[in-house]
Amino acid sequence: MDDIDDGSMDGLTVTACERCPELVDSRSRIVDGVGPDDADLCFVGEAPGAQEDEEGEPFVGRSGGVLDEALRDVGLARSDVRITNCVRCRPPDNRDPRNQELANCKGYLERELALVDPEVLVTLGKVPAEHLLERDVAITAEAGDIVEATIGDRRQRILLSVHPAATLYDRSQREPFEETIERAASLAGEDVGDQSRIGEF
Ligand code: URA
Repeated sequence: MDDIDDGSMDGLTVTACERCPELVDSRSRIVDGVGPDDADLCFVGEAPGAQEDEEGEPFVGRSGGVLDEALRDVGLARSDVRITNCVRCRPPDNRDPRNQELANCKGYLERELALVDPEVLVTLGKVPAEHLLERDVAITAEAGDIVEATIGDRRQRILLSVHPAATLYDRSQREPFEETIERAASLAGEDVGDQSRIGEF
């Protein structure tokens, strides 16, 4: 695991970090993950956008609306799942995070996942899939696939998904996206047996 024992993370909260000079300049705040600290299901996106930077919460813009709706369709509220990003600060002009920025932030994500210990992690889009699997991913072709990877010190079951924003540009992505979310909910439900929260909704 990357060295984050420098006091910059307290529990699930990154309290201070200046590792990425360009992001320190472009951000209004650090956007930490939200949701239960013992969620069975965790979604990982790329980086905060303008709205997320303003509100201090991941996926609260248009992409977040798509995610919320897909969750509602399978009987889940946003507050039932953990939602976080590979990078916690908004890149300038919404550019993709650079490799060094992803690397700088990885220890925080690893720590978050170690604490939450989700049954299923859903990567939203190509960037988080390639970052966590450490290989090239053809996301449209591989969306819906379940793989395993070592993240920090843990093995993690990962379900690959397109980014919710892709469904806004390309309507044909909507149905496969919704199917992937349904699959994620049922996988998390299956694996937690009697303790499943999914069955309550
Ligand atoms: N896109 C992301 O990848 N993350 C967010 O938090 C919002 C949009």
